[in-house]
Amino acid sequence: MSVTVRAFGKINLGLCIGSLRADGFHDLRTVYQTIALHDLVRVVVSRGSGVEIRCADARVPCDQSNTCYRIAERTMAALNAKGRVVVEIEKTLPVQGGLGGASANAVATLLGLERELKKRLSGGEGLRIAAEVGSDLPLFLVGGTILGVGRGEEVYPMPDLPETHCVIATPEIGVSTPQAFAAWDRMWNDGSAPELTRSSPSARMTRVGRVVSAWLSGAPGGEGPRKTVSGVPARGRGRAEILLLDLVRTGIENDFERVVFPQHPELREVKSVLARAGAYYASLSGSGSAVFGLFRSGAVASRVAASLAKSGVPAWATRTLSRRGYWRKIFD
Ligand code: C5P
Repeated sequence: MSVTVRAFGKINLGLCIGSLRADGFHDLRTVYQTIALHDLVRVVVSRGSGVEIRCADARVPCDQSNTCYRIAERTMAALNAKGRVVVEIEKTLPVQGGLGGASANAVATLLGLERELKKRLSGGEGLRIAAEVGSDLPLFLVGGTILGVGRGEEVYPMPDLPETHCVIATPEIGVSTPQAFAAWDRMWNDGSAPELTRSSPSARMTRVGRVVSAWLSGAPGGEGPRKTVSGVPARGRGRAEILLLDLVRTGIENDFERVVFPQHPELREVKSVLARAGAYYASLSGSGSAVFGLFRSGAVASRVAASLAKSGVPAWATRTLSRRGYWRKIFD
């Protein structure tokens, strides 16, 4: 028997970087959103022992450094299960792309093992194991629109933004997340971003925390989302767009753009192309290199993705996935 799991990717609808913590991680606040673009992860458990990872993409390590390997060992131990685990990964999501590909693959492995062995971890245990393997794994145990705090591993389901059309451009540039964080620290320490350093990292975190919670509750100060949060559509614009713009107006952008765009100006250019083509919101995802744009029309999104691909930038037209959509489509 084998189980095939769709490992859906994510984008970050804003990401605010805070202080470097004593454990070497950075405090952060982000809004994750799952998307329909996915890898396929096939999990088989047979007689024997050990873990084997198979992937045709040479950039994916098949040894113990693979997140699927690490989570398979932990999940088998936590489920008190024995056997040989084979995980086959079919990649569509970029490697080091900011779409959480490796993390999604790992969570798909956990879910595949549970199904294959007909055993379940408790919710808390699953989240604990996921967070041990990486900061952006737990979000994939929630799906939909999610608030991420701490080092990104502390996740809270948010009211879902309505599903929306999305173009994901994946320029063939790998951005190392630790290096992007280090570049952020250097920029902060050498004072080359005076407008940022005017407030302390913890004050920035507090401000973002406040605006997200105001946005969630529709309280005054959240710049007026009450109407849209309660579901009254405003004329001419979709609910997803209004809700998102409410959030963005509060100042949650992706801080990584400040360090990644100067290093890779072509990524800034892709963002401009998406904005000029009519995206109502465009941004780098995570530390990149994926850049996404949200669109009102699926036909426009398809045209934009095709034209980017023609100009040499791999791109897909896809949709964001609500929590319900995520869980309904995760197994074949
Ligand atoms: O948790 P994950 O394995 O994805 O983190 C990889 C690296 O990214 C960490 O070792 C750390 O250098 C950096 N990181 C960070 N702050 C975070 C998340 C990751 O500095 N919140």
